[in-house]
Amino acid sequence: MIRNFRVESGGRLRGSIRVPGDKSVSHRTIMLGAIAEGDTHVSGFLEGADAMSTMRAFRALGVAIDGPDMGRVVVHGAGLHGLRGRAEPLDCGNAGTAMRLMIGLLAGQRFESTLIGDYSLSKRPMGRVADPLALMGARIETRGGCPPVRILPSQGLVGIRYPMPVASAQVKSALLLAGLYAEGQTEVIEPAPTRDHTERMLEGFGVRLARNGSSVSLEGGQRLRASAIDVPADISSAAFFLVGATISPGSELRLEHVGMNPTRTGVLEILRLMGAHIAVENPREAGGEPVADLIVRGARLRGIDVPPELVPLAIDELPALFIAAACAEGRTVVTGAGELRVKESDRIAVMAEGLRNLGIEVEPAPDGIAIEGRGNQAAVFSSAEILTHHDHRIAMSFALAGLRSSGTILIRDIAVVDTSFPDFVTLASRAGMAIEETGG
Ligand code: S3P
Repeated sequence: MIRNFRVESGGRLRGSIRVPGDKSVSHRTIMLGAIAEGDTHVSGFLEGADAMSTMRAFRALGVAIDGPDMGRVVVHGAGLHGLRGRAEPLDCGNAGTAMRLMIGLLAGQRFESTLIGDYSLSKRPMGRVADPLALMGARIETRGGCPPVRILPSQGLVGIRYPMPVASAQVKSALLLAGLYAEGQTEVIEPAPTRDHTERMLEGFGVRLARNGSSVSLEGGQRLRASAIDVPADISSAAFFLVGATISPGSELRLEHVGMNPTRTGVLEILRLMGAHIAVENPREAGGEPVADLIVRGARLRGIDVPPELVPLAIDELPALFIAAACAEGRTVVTGAGELRVKESDRIAVMAEGLRNLGIEVEPAPDGIAIEGRGNQAAVFSSAEILTHHDHRIAMSFALAGLRSSGTILIRDIAVVDTSFPDFVTLASRAGMAIEETGG
């Protein structure tokens, strides 16, 4: 049976909620914990399908992992050379981060591995990690650049200096993980800043990194020491509520313990440029990451030209921001966002299709989109049926449209929301959205 969201029009968001743990950090707690020495104690772990795929894969590679139990996980580290080969393929499900980072980590192992994924992941480009890893001496086979990915036993890697052609934290992280197994130094240079969780966490595990402007490098052969990690709430999940509260007049919502890593906060800056009211309270540190509570109120938004340098810092939040743009007065233009075309779906095409169905004028471009805001209308969106194209963030973004629609919005095929935000319907209804899950 297909699972759907049915969203009735109207509502405002009130109260206080904590969204689930950060997906990027959760994947990395398992991966780094697995190759560390000692037990890594994790709290706030995201019990979503993506991070669970990573957990299952590392269990298959011989790592003992306890949990998850209410967000608590203990990874009994196997050490840098303690992973064990596996004849069966490792299934990464929908998780691009799991697959790309694991390709890097497995490239340096003395055993063979095969990585597979679901329908969406099987169409995503892996050459961006396989090609530079081949320069390091890895032997990796793909099917036309896409999964399945076969990684042949390593005959030894050598460090490289790699200026990345795309701003991708996944590519950077894959190379740094491979670099742990390489002879000499591995250096990655980014064309624009991307999320730096791998760097922060490697340092937390005692690895020495040299970070210099857009360059990060490490020496191979360094051992990781187990660590304790408190995973912050995922700003990418909080983003749905930041947008939802902003577009619904009379809202006032508190989001607790949100990760505020400056490489992830582009969504706040973009929303503020559009006129949003978001206050930051109790800034503090958790597990090597800045966190804070955010208070967001309903606001009138104006259309803007989104500064391209903010795009990599808000890459996963752009679908939700497109909904905000539709609720703004005037036109919003996004450029420099070609990466959206190779996410869990082609997010430019899929958002353009859904927004048009909801009565919004859009002009998609190869690297972005222009959206004509209808913020001067109380009901911005008409009633419609939306297809998610197997993409969690598309499903949750369109659910927000109900807050400013003239009628019911039906979002078809939402099971994939479980990858990053298993409690979405519960938290969204508790905050005040008229949303329910239906079957059929
Ligand atoms: C991620 C990096 C980003 C992001 C993805 C998670 C990570 O991908 O879109 O959801 O955890 O490193 P790219 O690095 O491909 O931009």
